[in-house]
Amino acid sequence: MRVTLIAAQSLDGFITKHAAPGSDFASSADQVHLRNALAGFDCSVMGAETYRTARTQIRERLTPPRLRTVLTRSPQNFAADTLPGLLEFSSASPAQLLADLSARALRRCALLGGAQIHSLFLNSHLIDELWLTVEPALFGRGTPLLAQATDTRLRLLSQEKLAADTILLKYEVLR
Ligand SMILES: NC(=O)c1ccc[n+]([C@@H]2O[C@H](COP(=O)([O-])OP(=O)(O)OC[C@H]3O[C@@H](n4cnc5c(N)ncnc54)[C@H](OP(=O)(O)O)[C@@H]3O)[C@@H](O)[C@H]2O)c1
Repeated sequence: MRVTLIAAQSLDGFITKHAAPGSDFASSADQVHLRNALAGFDCSVMGAETYRTARTQIRERLTPPRLRTVLTRSPQNFAADTLPGLLEFSSASPAQLLADLSARALRRCALLGGAQIHSLFLNSHLIDELWLTVEPALFGRGTPLLAQATDTRLRLLSQEKLAADTILLKYEVLR
């Protein structure tokens, strides 16, 4: 299973603007990029906080064949939202979750936030690539890209201008 973290951040590394949940600060160019990029993945994983923030939009766009899995310590709380094969909730460890997804013949996983889930996978050495959209903004405060300390080295794979001031950077995680 190849895992790619996909996120939009301010130049100073925040995935939310101040205390406001969501990623409304991201440009329309990033939204187009995200939609197109996700077509190349057969599964995605996000944290329950990200799901709670964007629940309505996520549920409106539940098109097969991509399986969305939400990580939560209390999957039973989401029983009413579960749609097997489309939207599932799990308390499995990252390694166990990826093994389960692989056993279902899924091969490419998009990791879609937020900071806690990024760190959980990164510190388990389970992220292969980072695709970061850098928006031309400084927030000073907000939810950081990562919730925990790390010392991860990266190799730049590509840089692309999505719009006049918005850059997409793709990195490989060095193991
Ligand atoms: N700009 C972007 O690209 C971008 C992308 C994604 C998200 N975001 C934003 O980031 C914010 C959310 O980030 P966040 O870091 O606060 O939360 P998060 O990573 O989305 O989710 C945290 C939740 O994940 C669950 N969790 C954490 N560790 C777990 C573990 N070991 N096993 C099982 N479940 C676990 C817990 O859910 P329970 O409490 O249910 O147990 C926890 O509350 C939102 O505002 C969202 O909009 C921005």
